[in-house]
Amino acid sequence: MNILVTGAAGYIGSIVTEELIKDGHTVIALDNLQQGHRAAVNPEAEFVHADLGNTTGLEDIFCRRRIEAVMHLAAESIVPESMSEPSKFFHNNIVYGLNMLDIMSKNGVDKIIFSSSAAVYGEPEEVPIREIAHEKPANPYGETKLALERVLHWYSIAYGLKYISLRYFNAAGASEQYGEDHNPETHLIPNVLRVALGQQDYIPLFGTDYPTHDGSCIRDYVHVADIARAHILSLLYLQKGGVSGVFNLGNSKGFSVREVIATARGITGHQIPLKNMPRRRGDPAVLVADATRTRSVLGWQPRLSDLENIIASAWRWQREHPHGYRENPR
Ligand code: UFG
Repeated sequence: MNILVTGAAGYIGSIVTEELIKDGHTVIALDNLQQGHRAAVNPEAEFVHADLGNTTGLEDIFCRRRIEAVMHLAAESIVPESMSEPSKFFHNNIVYGLNMLDIMSKNGVDKIIFSSSAAVYGEPEEVPIREIAHEKPANPYGETKLALERVLHWYSIAYGLKYISLRYFNAAGASEQYGEDHNPETHLIPNVLRVALGQQDYIPLFGTDYPTHDGSCIRDYVHVADIARAHILSLLYLQKGGVSGVFNLGNSKGFSVREVIATARGITGHQIPLKNMPRRRGDPAVLVADATRTRSVLGWQPRLSDLENIIASAWRWQREHPHGYRENPR
């Protein structure tokens, strides 16, 4: 199939693109390179440097290529930034998302896999979290993901759009070639590994008084390549006439921040000093997915998502790319 992947030069987009190419699809890889990296785009994809705010440019892409489905990953995604700059998030994630949907509809493209987030749930009332849980985003980032999910729902009713919205829990790990390189990096695992690489003196531990067994937050880490496979399964499901909807993407196992650090110590052989810090604003205590529906309806099985494997893959990639995709940092 000819598949348009937006945000294809980002962390998850690069690995979704890689997996689609492995499966023999033709990928039109779109990115504005504001956060993504050109080197993260598989050379077999057709790269298009474009911004979703430029509707004429987008129209042109749809006119010139016979796009059959869209995987929409492009988004502002740094949660703390969404608290201080919500305007950017509402514009780029909702307005630009709408641009994409309207152009799809105009061009008769009726299948989309949308990159959503566990951030739609906010502080959950019950764990593990099911898709039917109350959505109460605790930050503008989660709010934008939920808003676009609602748009997808109503577009499916009005225009016959077929969609799967994948609510990622904590994406982590790397493939052989592609890994995580954000600027600034806010995520736990790459920052823990930066300490092991000697690029940071210690890892700040945000919050030691959460109501968990060791006082640190618990998260559900899922390997980025398992996330990528879920996109392909979602598309197959829609092609077979599956019903549109939202699905949790998590490994359904929770690990505390302290447990992640301990595992990373074992893998890297580095002490990885930590420093106790106050809680980070907007961090729920525990986020663990109930992914029963995703497994039974989409046939998804996380294969690479045990914590050791996730951290080992990220460690391999970060050691090989100590400066991410920048070859010659100043
Ligand atoms: N943490 C630290 N020190 C760090 C970085 C993180 O203690 O240097 C802690 C955080 O406080 C949190 C846990 O490690 O408790 C995981 O933090 P991440 O930043 O790696 O991930 P989040 O759980 O905050 O964010 C993830 C996704 C977001 C998504 C969010 C849903 O990355 O896209 O889950 O809440 F929105």
